[in-house]
Amino acid sequence: MKFPYYRLRRLRKTQLIREMVAENRINIKDFIYPLFISEKITINHPIQSMPGQYQIALNKLVNEVDKLIKLGLKKFILFGIPTHKDAAGTSAYAENGIIQQAVRKLNKEFSSNIIIVTDICMCGYTNHGHCGILRDRSVDNDLTLKYLGKIALSHVNAGVDIVAPSAMMDGQVKVIRKILDENGFSDVAIMAYAAKYASHFYSPFRMAAESAPSFGDRKGYQMDFRNSNEALQEIRLDLEEGADIILVKPALAYLDVIYRVKAQFQVPTAAYNVSGEYSMIYNAIQQKILHEDLIFEILIAIKRAGADLIISYFAPQVAKILQEA
Ligand code: PBG
Repeated sequence: MKFPYYRLRRLRKTQLIREMVAENRINIKDFIYPLFISEKITINHPIQSMPGQYQIALNKLVNEVDKLIKLGLKKFILFGIPTHKDAAGTSAYAENGIIQQAVRKLNKEFSSNIIIVTDICMCGYTNHGHCGILRDRSVDNDLTLKYLGKIALSHVNAGVDIVAPSAMMDGQVKVIRKILDENGFSDVAIMAYAAKYASHFYSPFRMAAESAPSFGDRKGYQMDFRNSNEALQEIRLDLEEGADIILVKPALAYLDVIYRVKAQFQVPTAAYNVSGEYSMIYNAIQQKILHEDLIFEILIAIKRAGADLIISYFAPQVAKILQEA
């Protein structure tokens, strides 16, 4: 019963037929949009390394989010750019830190109409740009855990819905789960950057978040891109420590990892379509080297690989295109 009885082209005949049998679709509800909020500015500042993206001033935040909500975007992950940095990243857990202020503002204005996720890491707040506390020029894992717990609790006190630890310290999910539970926040979820690779795809983000390491690299804590069995182990441990959502990052060059993770664990899985993936494609589209529809091609690929949720800088653009369609 092969050809000529079977003809797969029948279901490719028209746009409507192709729509009808499409196995994967982009829905704006799948997206989390990153926001960079800077304590250092009073007007929004374009991010050179990520054209189309802005550092947002605190007094402009509500207005920006309002516009995004009108596009159908309701989930945001927040990154802060503080005025003050020091060796212990104290601005990361300050009562009036930039993220804490931003979260209170957003909650007051939009309450349960949006979901606020915050990145729990220290690189944007330490004067050396590493993701934790240094001892002998290397990040001290267990000492850093105490700080990550403090940061998470201060974000949750300000009203965050989901915390997303991204420092890649061993035991970070366990410590955060414990401190949240002890303080009455057992209903706050953890999205763990469980498989986060040491990647050059993060360079534009580090310019945007002003968080590049002042010496060395992050290979002592983020994953080696040659490994994928290790990603499964990272995720198994994070789930055992209490992660509710797991995240693979970057996405595009790591579709195999997303696929394996989803096949193995079948838990809510997010993928971070990171800054380098965004800038690469955005610039090529601007220069008319690539077609704009490529955005959908790659985002569908990330879903097809198994991601339920996508963190992407393309979210507003996608929302606009979907609204017009
Ligand atoms: C914080 C963090 C980084 C990203 C998200 N959280 C940078 C890094 O690990 O250096 C990168 C996101 C992106 O490139 O879009 N550790």
